[in-house]
Amino acid sequence: MILALSKFSSVRIGDPEKVDRILNAMRKAGPNTVQVISDFDMTLTRFAFNGKRCPTCHNILDNSKLISEECKEQLKELLNTYYPIEIDSTRSVEDKLPFMVEWWTKAHNLMVQQKIKKDLLATAVKESDAMLRDGYKGLFDHLKEQNIPLLVFSAGIGDVLEEVIRQAGVFYPNVKVISNYMDFDETGTLQAFKGELIHTYNKREGALLNTGLFEELNDRHNVLLMGDSLGDLNMADGVQNMDNILKIGYLNDKVDAWMETYLNSYDIVLVKDETMEVPNAILHYIT
Ligand code: C5P
Ligand code: MG
Repeated sequence: MILALSKFSSVRIGDPEKVDRILNAMRKAGPNTVQVISDFDMTLTRFAFNGKRCPTCHNILDNSKLISEECKEQLKELLNTYYPIEIDSTRSVEDKLPFMVEWWTKAHNLMVQQKIKKDLLATAVKESDAMLRDGYKGLFDHLKEQNIPLLVFSAGIGDVLEEVIRQAGVFYPNVKVISNYMDFDETGTLQAFKGELIHTYNKREGALLNTGLFEELNDRHNVLLMGDSLGDLNMADGVQNMDNILKIGYLNDKVDAWMETYLNSYDIVLVKDETMEVPNAILHYIT
């Protein structure tokens, strides 16, 4: 299998023997023991298309007609302030935490002020440039056919990402979501966000908080994890009695600065790869 992966030019592997061992153990255990836990923004969705950045869940709204011009400027300013901190390789996660909370909190407050209407979300998504990665249909279809649960664990916006998946025609019953959900009042107007805030670097807390949320996940002890940020590495921390975990990381931005860290953290690193080819090849091998 490792040999087969080497045909993909985006693949980097720090410890090929370990990857081989995990893949064979998972293949032996079979599809009934496997679950997939994936981040959404920039993992299931494309980072760029034709040289242009693709939107995150938040950006879909930031760029939509649901937000006034003045508010768009404010949201852009937040992005310009906090995104560089999020991806700064010279700062520790601990150092970044308060900034992430600040970013999400300020952005969510602005969205609430805009009195976003629930029934306009679908149009905002339709008119956006959001794109799932090439090969997404193969991934979602295969998981559905094999009855393998896909847990989407996102610091984005649940209502928005569900709509992206729905409009792509792959929001199957085996797809579960943990994310920030909007709270609408009786007139369908956004009044707050529900529950504990999930941002890039507190997915561990979110995972532990949501342990047991989806019963069907409890007896699946082999995990294929997919992410693009170091915060995504903790998404499976709520899984009890883990047998094997294979971590696939999309390295989209600041490749040189991050390469070594990603190779030490993710089992398989995909460099500037806008496709699902590698996860699909792996899934076909193990299930
Ligand atoms: O789904 P995922 O966990 O990747 O979602 C988080 C992403 O959303 C972050 O990587 C961050 O860059 C982005 N974000 C944004 N606007 C905000 C807050 C987060 O684009 N206001
Ligand atoms: Mg992401």
